[in-house]
Amino acid sequence: MDQEIKCAVIGTGYVGLVTGACLADLGYHVICLDRDEGKLESLRNGKVEIFEAELEPMIVRNMKNGSLSFSADIKSAVSDSFYIFITVDTPSDETGRADITNVEEAARRIAPGVNSYKIIVNKSTVPVGSTNRVMRIIEESEPEYPEFDVVSNPEFLREGTAVFDFMNPTRIVIGSDSEKAIMHMTELYRPINAPLLITDPISAEMIKYASNAFLATKISYINAIANLCEYIGADVREVSLGMGYDGRIGFEFLKPGPGFGGSCFPKDTRALLAIATDYGYNFDLLKGTLEVNRRQRERMVEKLERMLGKLEEVKIAALGLSFKANTSDVRESPAIEIVRMLRDRKANVSAYDPKAMDNARKQLEGIEFADNPYLAARDADALVILTEWDEFKWLDYPRIAELMKRPIILDTRNLLDPQVLRKEGFTYEGVGR
Ligand code: UGA
Repeated sequence: MDQEIKCAVIGTGYVGLVTGACLADLGYHVICLDRDEGKLESLRNGKVEIFEAELEPMIVRNMKNGSLSFSADIKSAVSDSFYIFITVDTPSDETGRADITNVEEAARRIAPGVNSYKIIVNKSTVPVGSTNRVMRIIEESEPEYPEFDVVSNPEFLREGTAVFDFMNPTRIVIGSDSEKAIMHMTELYRPINAPLLITDPISAEMIKYASNAFLATKISYINAIANLCEYIGADVREVSLGMGYDGRIGFEFLKPGPGFGGSCFPKDTRALLAIATDYGYNFDLLKGTLEVNRRQRERMVEKLERMLGKLEEVKIAALGLSFKANTSDVRESPAIEIVRMLRDRKANVSAYDPKAMDNARKQLEGIEFADNPYLAARDADALVILTEWDEFKWLDYPRIAELMKRPIILDTRNLLDPQVLRKEGFTYEGVGR
């Protein structure tokens, strides 16, 4: 690949790092930018704070061969590059709207470096119209060279498999009205084999929100079905299997649990609802999606209370704190919210997670953190599985039964085999079965 093609990636969060490392791995010359010098220094030393399969070795390898570097100097990185990626976060504000301050700030800092034709690629999830907003900010800053294009290029990476997803995307969406920019973007992604969807910027921005909110709705739907299964005595796993065979429904995202979490689904669903409200459209369906999701966490706590008789002064072993397995991320994690509710109901919680303990410690006070699942289970009145980590499947449950005061398990992820556990003497409940 052409080492002369240079890319600057602004923001070394999870999307920025994965984008930067993967573009470098494809053979481009990439410079990743951030304001945080401490973070840059540890990245230069090959230390990646986020737990993401394949990412750290990929960063180290590409730094060694000179394809990837880290800097705080946006102006010279932009001057040197042809493609400028904006990968900063767009958190929810207090009204649920996406706060695009960081995107606007990035645009302002890009402007002084525009000294020749460049393509500014927005990968951050932003409300409709934001691509044009970035364009206006740069124009108003009167850059040295007047010609540039701003393109919307949403990402569909899943945490935990983000490197794989970047290299093997289900589709590449390019939103632009400029033929020149479209041609260059097509060229950039030539090494990747995926359907290419070229559209206008507003539709590209909408594709991202519509996809995430749809998947979130699918999860709330199966959670509602699971709850109903409990009333009528059906097994939701059989039900979702039977539904999934219909290609129009599909097998994926039909796993019930404690509700969806993470840095994307809750935030993006709220943001899409806010966009609808701003444009005068009443998107009741999304209100339902969010409400089912909120209630689902409470249901797990109520279930545990029913199983135990009370929550006050009982010891609960909580296994899993990340918002899903194979990540250390605890943002909007249902596990964290459930542990908080248990703590507020005066239960004594002892929690364990294979990767998310450090992040969880910053968010959870008044609970105990155990070094391993067995320590968490010691003298516990109940054990609750909150994240579907594979290692929880293979624990020595007969030993856990001996360690616990009462052998009670609430499996909010339907990870374990009820028959086996019941044989081992546990009182077991899952979700929707
Ligand atoms: C999600 C999307 O899957 C990505 O396509 C998207 O790019 C990303 O958001 C983003 O916008 O950046 P991610 O947040 O990493 O990716 O997590 P998912 O694997 O989608 O899971 C989200 C939540 O839904 C988790 O809490 C998970 O436990 C839950 N979930 C997922 C279920 O409860 N049931 C399921 O069947 C699937």
